[in-house]
Amino acid sequence: MNAEITLNGEILKSERLILRSWKLNDLKDFYEYASVDGVGQMADWMPHKNIEESKEILLHFIETKNNFAIELVESKKVIGSISLELCKEEFKKDFKNLSGRELGYVISKDYWNRGYATEAAKALIDYCFKEKGYDYLYCSHLERNYKSKRVIEKCNFTFYREFDYDTVLNTREKVLMYVLYNKQEERA
Ligand SMILES: CC(C)(COP(=O)(O)OP(=O)(O)OC[C@H]1O[C@@H](n2cnc3c(N)ncnc32)[C@H](O)[C@@H]1OP(=O)(O)O)[C@@H](O)C(=O)NCCC(=O)NCCS
Repeated sequence: MNAEITLNGEILKSERLILRSWKLNDLKDFYEYASVDGVGQMADWMPHKNIEESKEILLHFIETKNNFAIELVESKKVIGSISLELCKEEFKKDFKNLSGRELGYVISKDYWNRGYATEAAKALIDYCFKEKGYDYLYCSHLERNYKSKRVIEKCNFTFYREFDYDTVLNTREKVLMYVLYNKQEERA
């Protein structure tokens, strides 16, 4: 079952980050990181070819209201995004009547390995479990995505299952899926 998420001006704060709704004037920062080779491919999307493509996707983020911009407290620069995606149809039966979402994230390549994805994920997990009462969150990564695997481990997700997946690069790859429950007794 999908948990509800409709961002209406919510702002989540952590030590170095602000998670907030996307705005149209984030376009420059968004295009800057989303157009870089080697970023989107790890999350199964291709680098943006031009700023118009970024604008279209940004408008979609604003409309769907399930995707936070990750802004640096210090510089106000947007360095990534973190989202609460709909639970994929094929996994719904795994979670029975529990409510939750899939966690997804991306950080600008210029800012990798400084703990930002983990910090953002922990802030959002806290919000989902403590304020929104979600029962679970799940997260998955391509087998070769060691950085994302590490973020998932640092957020205390538990390995759940693996499956084969057809990627945007036209490869068939192994994906590892992990789950984090709000309360241990709610394990499906
Ligand atoms: C995955 C991603 C979000 C991580 O962001 P980040 O801010 O660099 O993450 P963090 O700094 O919180 O953690 C990264 C961890 O990966 C580790 N790491 C980096 N390269 C690694 C490698 N080749 N093998 C193993 N671990 C690696 C880092 O050391 C760090 O762990 P540590 O804190 O224990 O040292 C970022 O790389 C990214 O945006 N990638 C492209 C999009 C993507 O993959 N999204 C996720 C889809 S599932």
